[in-house]
Amino acid sequence: MINSIAVVTSGGDSPGMNAAARAVVRTALGEGVRVFGIYGGYTGMCDDHIEELTSRSVSDLIQRGGTFLGTGRSTRFRTEEGRKLAYDNLKKHGIEGLVVIGGDGSLSGASLLSQYGMPIVGLPGTIDNDVWGTDYTIGCDTAANTILDAINKLRDTASAHRRIILIEVMGRKSGWLAMMSGIAGGAEYVLVPEVKFDLDVISEEIKESYSYGKRYSIIVVAEGAGSAVDIGKVIADKTEIDTRVSVLGYIQRGGSPTVEDRMKASLLGERAALALISGASNVVFGYDQGKVVSIKLKDAVTNTKTLDPELVRLSRVLA
Ligand code: F6P
Repeated sequence: MINSIAVVTSGGDSPGMNAAARAVVRTALGEGVRVFGIYGGYTGMCDDHIEELTSRSVSDLIQRGGTFLGTGRSTRFRTEEGRKLAYDNLKKHGIEGLVVIGGDGSLSGASLLSQYGMPIVGLPGTIDNDVWGTDYTIGCDTAANTILDAINKLRDTASAHRRIILIEVMGRKSGWLAMMSGIAGGAEYVLVPEVKFDLDVISEEIKESYSYGKRYSIIVVAEGAGSAVDIGKVIADKTEIDTRVSVLGYIQRGGSPTVEDRMKASLLGERAALALISGASNVVFGYDQGKVVSIKLKDAVTNTKTLDPELVRLSRVLA
């Protein structure tokens, strides 16, 4: 039985990371296990920014986006030397197991750290929904709802001026976030890196739809599919229709988590702590069709999650 664990958030912050960390802390304490917080992601691990947490340390957090532990993208941790230093710091505090909450880059870092013999349980924390082996990642639902709110507002202006409006959303190389928010927001087109698109065809279709009386068009562009500003220029030239672009940026990463993110992150946090305490190692907990499942850490970081072709099809049918 493990007596002492730590929790770290790493990579881009995502709404629900706090809920997950809170669940890890309170579950472990409930089992009589000490819990340490690592501040500032893997950088904090290298710098020994590690402090013991109590139940009160995670009060007043469930409603907050971001991460109270802080996060980062550490270049030092990418080196063997940095990881050894981080491992030594964990051992110095008597830490026997680690919960890592982050996206695929952070979980890849966790996998490398585990080679020193540190038991690790990962939780998928990213708005991108791009972690292999899980339908769900912590924060994606909140981000998709934030995008939806933006689309609803952009519709007003698009309709008033009969404009084409492109909205660029995050997701790194993945089109999941764009596809989810595009379908839910009723976008005419969702441009994602996984699917080729032809701006000549799109422009012709938009022109034709305007000639039948359509008032406006909304195009969601995943950042991985290209710059919405550049794509917007091409569409404006080809259609000669008034076109505007909105790059949503970091607004979509923050904010109070939705019910789904709070609930799912809390369940994952509890499962992670219980698994780690009872000896599990090198696994990631996620969801498969609504149920919590565990995936091997190695599989999660060596495979690439693909965009559901059913969603691609649906976005075309409904547009
Ligand atoms: O992984 C989350 C994410 O927000 C991506 O969607 C985006 O490409 C990236 O992080 C931005 O990273 P940074 O916060 O380092 O600018």
